[in-house]
Amino acid sequence: MSRKIIRGGLVITATEELRADVLVDGERVAAVAAPEIAEQWVSTADAVLDADGHYVIPGGVDVHTHMQMPFGGTHSSDTFETGTRAAAWGGTTTIVDFAIQPVGGSPREGLDAWHAKADGRCAIDYAFHMILSDVGDEALKEMDTLVAEGITSFKLFMAYPGVFYSDDGQILRAMQQAADNGALVMMHAENGIAIDVLVRQALAAGRTDPRHHAQVRHPLLEAEATHRAIQLSRVAGAPLYVVHVSATEAVAEIARARDGGLSVFGETCPQYLFLTADELARPGFEGAKYVCSTPLRPADHQQNLWRALRTDDLSVVSTDHCPFCFTDQKELGRGDFSRIPNGIPGVENRIDLLHQAVVEGRISRRRWVELACTTPARMFGLHPRKGTIAPGSDADIVIYDPRAEHVLSAETHYMNVDYNAYEGRRVTGAVRTVLSRGDVIVDAGTYQGRAGHGAFLRRDTCQYLV
Ligand code: URP
Ligand code: ZN
Ligand code: ZN
Ligand code: ZN
Repeated sequence: MSRKIIRGGLVITATEELRADVLVDGERVAAVAAPEIAEQWVSTADAVLDADGHYVIPGGVDVHTHMQMPFGGTHSSDTFETGTRAAAWGGTTTIVDFAIQPVGGSPREGLDAWHAKADGRCAIDYAFHMILSDVGDEALKEMDTLVAEGITSFKLFMAYPGVFYSDDGQILRAMQQAADNGALVMMHAENGIAIDVLVRQALAAGRTDPRHHAQVRHPLLEAEATHRAIQLSRVAGAPLYVVHVSATEAVAEIARARDGGLSVFGETCPQYLFLTADELARPGFEGAKYVCSTPLRPADHQQNLWRALRTDDLSVVSTDHCPFCFTDQKELGRGDFSRIPNGIPGVENRIDLLHQAVVEGRISRRRWVELACTTPARMFGLHPRKGTIAPGSDADIVIYDPRAEHVLSAETHYMNVDYNAYEGRRVTGAVRTVLSRGDVIVDAGTYQGRAGHGAFLRRDTCQYLV
């Protein structure tokens, strides 16, 4: 068992900032102690990591990724191996990815398939949500056994008819089951039936390029679905977590529900905070790089998302990392925007982008840690093992240089995708050292991790529910 001491940094958690040293014993944090007390450890430590002038934060917890996800006749370009390595480079030490119940198959089949893709390949610890794409009696029963195996959250889609879509009756039944077994229902809230009508009309009128993707996926169709999901969850008596919230009008629905005391939670993603629908109009089909759902919105939505993150109307920032290469995958939708594989890469960039918000005074340092590490861990039953630095927690720790500047670029990123959605953006702050369960996996520009170090995490149920 290796003993390490992280000396001289500013330890930041969701609740405090202190000048302290962190003592790591094997895979766990043993103590967070004042330097005078930590001094005694130095003689017995196997390694002393100097964090002078740096922040010492919990490893990022990204609760929304799609590695190797089949979509639109292709699959997202990061494998569990490449995607988790990129996550590690970006200061994220836990992902929760989405296993998918195949249409006509069972959640169990989906889970087995995702275990087979991930097991022995991940650089960092990982867990799964389950996408229910065929809700029936058997799938509902299986939800209970999956919860017992640590799959404690289930995503349902009000969008993508014929693919992942569930109707309101199926959604209600899944929510009733979740009310019973303690699971958290995650909702892709967009009215997919109405969107498909608008898609067909746009294509028939010759409006085929990427910018029409955002026009047919109207903010009010996000708000309407969000409202409907909230009402269905009230009827079922189940909590609700709305994923990738992008529209002001949808945030308002979540805020109203929360003000009314409901267990309704919202997540947004860096793309909605830092990019706008203007990107979709880039010339030469480049707009396809920015096709994701919910879509990027006009700039005025951004201020409201930032406000919602400050007031906790939105509680989590995850990436919805779902990379498709521009040259050979986004290309599938040239001449028909509805065939562009949906998704944006970002698992490597989230911690840095959110730190920009700290630099710019939009959020505090503690809120940065809370949004990126602590709340996601609590929301999905991983806390206090993940998401904080405290005695007994896994030693998933990032030593972060708040002053180092670098430029986000596909030239230098580790994600297995041929573009970076934030290409050319200069950010202040950089990951220097990353520990995963006590092992140094990234340090000063060198990768020291390995495929298979990451372990599957059986999750508890959501810790925000009484
Ligand atoms: O465009 C997106 N978000 N792709 C990933 C699938 C999903 O809906 O989260
Ligand atoms: Zn979604
Ligand atoms: Zn997603
Ligand atoms: Zn490719």
